[in-house]
Amino acid sequence: MPQPAILNVQHLQKVFFPGTSNERHVLKDVNLTIEPGEFVAVIGNNGAGKSTLLNTIAGTLSTDSGEIELAGHQVTNRPVAYRSRWVARVFQDPKLGTAGDLSVAQNLTLAARHTGSLSLRRYWRGDQEAQYLDLLASLNMGLEQRLNTQVKYLSGGQRQALSLLMATLSHPELLLLDEHTAALDPQTSAEVMALTQKIVTANQLTTMMITHKMSDALAYGDRLVMVQDGQIKLDVRGAAKQALQADELLTMFAG
Ligand SMILES: Nc1ncnc2c1ncn2[C@@H]1O[C@H](COP(=O)(O)OP(=O)(O)O)[C@@H](O)[C@H]1O
Ligand SMILES: [Mg+2]
Repeated sequence: MPQPAILNVQHLQKVFFPGTSNERHVLKDVNLTIEPGEFVAVIGNNGAGKSTLLNTIAGTLSTDSGEIELAGHQVTNRPVAYRSRWVARVFQDPKLGTAGDLSVAQNLTLAARHTGSLSLRRYWRGDQEAQYLDLLASLNMGLEQRLNTQVKYLSGGQRQALSLLMATLSHPELLLLDEHTAALDPQTSAEVMALTQKIVTANQLTTMMITHKMSDALAYGDRLVMVQDGQIKLDVRGAAKQALQADELLTMFAG
């Protein structure tokens, strides 16, 4: 039997404040299928509907009509907790992915405990500290020296790196990133992007990454989706994506 798509969104519509003078039709019949192993970069103007799309997939926003399937399971308007066995996400705000008052080790323990995978839970019962140190060292952000530091004392970059690690510990079917480097300085943003690429590749994670940086959308991922005014206006993959130039993309943006 062929593997089901990781994500299948059909005829998705979202209207905020319907029937009022503030009515805003934000998703207009969006169709999007993501196959196993794809790394999709999503770009679009401010207010185009990118985060709304991501939020309806994660389940933090309900839909008005349309269908969402995750790994072959119908999840349309099912709660976030139901979808969390397939989906993990990292937010723009470094504070949202981690618990600031807990140490790095405690955050990792929480993330490991929440994983649905039994084999992974068993794995975590061994010499945890050595495993944590290995994982943290692989991030190259100096976190292996901060195992017992409260997360609120970490830098934004360290905190996003930890959020990424925590989001991927459970081997989610779909990793959702919503401008997860936008709050970082340019240098740290580049480091976290490189780290993202490394983690996605090493774990063969199917990933949907919203970015505000056109250069990142061109440099990362094997597929590029452009959202404009609540619709997908461009969807290129493979060689066509590799060949895409910044000026072409800018022209499409303007149009
Ligand atoms: N929870 C909400 N309630 C009302 N309006 C919203 C909500 N979320 C987003 N919007 C509106 O929907 C439009 C699209 O927002 P968003 O999806 O966040 O855009 P993007 O992420 O592409 O910048 C914006 O006009 C925004 O103000
Ligand atoms: Mg957004």
